[in-house]
Amino acid sequence: MPHTIVIFGASGDLTSRKLIPALYNLKRKKRLPEDARIVGFSRTAFSHDEWRKDLRATTQEFAGDKFKPEVWDEFAKQVFYHAGDIGDQADFVALGKFLGELEGGQNASRVYYLSTAPRFYGQAVEQLGKAGLACEDGGCDRRVVIEKPFGIDLASAKALNNTVHAHFKEHQVYRIDHYLGKETVQNLFVLRFANAIFEPIWNRQYIDHVQITVAEEVNVGSRAGYYDSAGVVRDMIQNHLLQLLMVTAMEPPARYAADPVRDEKVKVLLAVRPKTPKDIARDTVRAQYDGYLKAEGVPENSKTATFAAIKLGIDNWRWQGVPFYLRSGKAMSCRTTQIVIQFRQPPHMLFKEGPKTIRDANRLIIQVQPAEGIQMHFQTKVPDAGMTMRQTDLDFNYQKNFGGSIPEAYERLLLDAIEGDASLFARADEVEAAWGICDPILNTWAATDQPKLLTYEPGGWGPVECTEWMAAQRREWFDAC
Ligand code: BG6
Repeated sequence: MPHTIVIFGASGDLTSRKLIPALYNLKRKKRLPEDARIVGFSRTAFSHDEWRKDLRATTQEFAGDKFKPEVWDEFAKQVFYHAGDIGDQADFVALGKFLGELEGGQNASRVYYLSTAPRFYGQAVEQLGKAGLACEDGGCDRRVVIEKPFGIDLASAKALNNTVHAHFKEHQVYRIDHYLGKETVQNLFVLRFANAIFEPIWNRQYIDHVQITVAEEVNVGSRAGYYDSAGVVRDMIQNHLLQLLMVTAMEPPARYAADPVRDEKVKVLLAVRPKTPKDIARDTVRAQYDGYLKAEGVPENSKTATFAAIKLGIDNWRWQGVPFYLRSGKAMSCRTTQIVIQFRQPPHMLFKEGPKTIRDANRLIIQVQPAEGIQMHFQTKVPDAGMTMRQTDLDFNYQKNFGGSIPEAYERLLLDAIEGDASLFARADEVEAAWGICDPILNTWAATDQPKLLTYEPGGWGPVECTEWMAAQRREWFDAC
């Protein structure tokens, strides 16, 4: 069956920066089906060749030394453009006709990729449905890929799900969270479920707590217009960090397939202990980097948090009493995403020289990016020094072991959408459960002054109060680039 990928929002930034370079890379690796056609749809009036020419320049820029003119020439033959307006039903009817001609009347599988501004997602889905392009009754293969953000709170996410479900069945819907496309996040499944040694200790008996940090060195730059209405919880925690939490904490699924995997993931979110405003005042830290208010487009009295740390509890047998700390911020010391599994101290320390604090207990660090790898910290006897010990580590590094570069998340996700594998996409109940965790935090922050919005110096690890907050719990952030 031939494949057609229609990109709505074709003249946008995501298309040129991520989607087309990813599709081009799939072509270069001979993974893009020969009979796949990519069709851009947006209001700008381009001919096929004008769009191809623009994309060539941006792909060259973003693919760097992986850009090969001869591969591009072959790829460009699979690229087409159709101008249209999301608000105009006639344009969708015309698109349907164009796609039919392009597919030569064959029953092609189609992926509709919504990369427009988020406010158009619902409308685009409705137009597809009304123009008879959704094919929800089966008989043809149609999928819709929806970019993040999926709603701005629980109510809007539910409303969007309702609109989507009026035209597409859930199995046709692929909600993107590009963190799931990262190799190291997929490796978490492998680490946990393709090895026997971790599972017996992956629980409350051996683990003291888990830290999930997504630090970014960049500040909001020119994105303040969007960012100020989102803030760190909507931009990062509701999606990327909660995805990392789910994959870290989930039970083994019965099979590695879309629904068994997502069933287990969503159970984690449903087990997250609900928080009262009082809990939120105690269990969250919010802050804004110094200088944020001067960024272009930020209102002078903005209280948008660019940093947050949130302590969550998971009420199930595996995780009762094990806090999960989620932390993310812009304008931090460096770009790093890491999951730190902090084990407990030995129940009895034989050696008087041995470590006394949790800081020196075993620690497994999953480096999601950019230095992809895994480290295990453990105590070792210092040679020729009595029983003095020191923490050392076993260090696995992707680059050293596999060479080459790690592919962009979008390559994997686009290929999965083309092939109809939804395992690495969020299901309706998953996004709603994620908003169910974030809404009370956002509402409490908006309605009360507790916790206070703190300030932090760019280039560090967030506000000093956050370090103290952790110390008051007899724990310590693992701050390492
Ligand atoms: C996006 C956020 O979803 O993820 C951005 O909107 C953030 O604010 C980005 O910078 C981080 O992605 P990555 O892959 O660079 O960690």
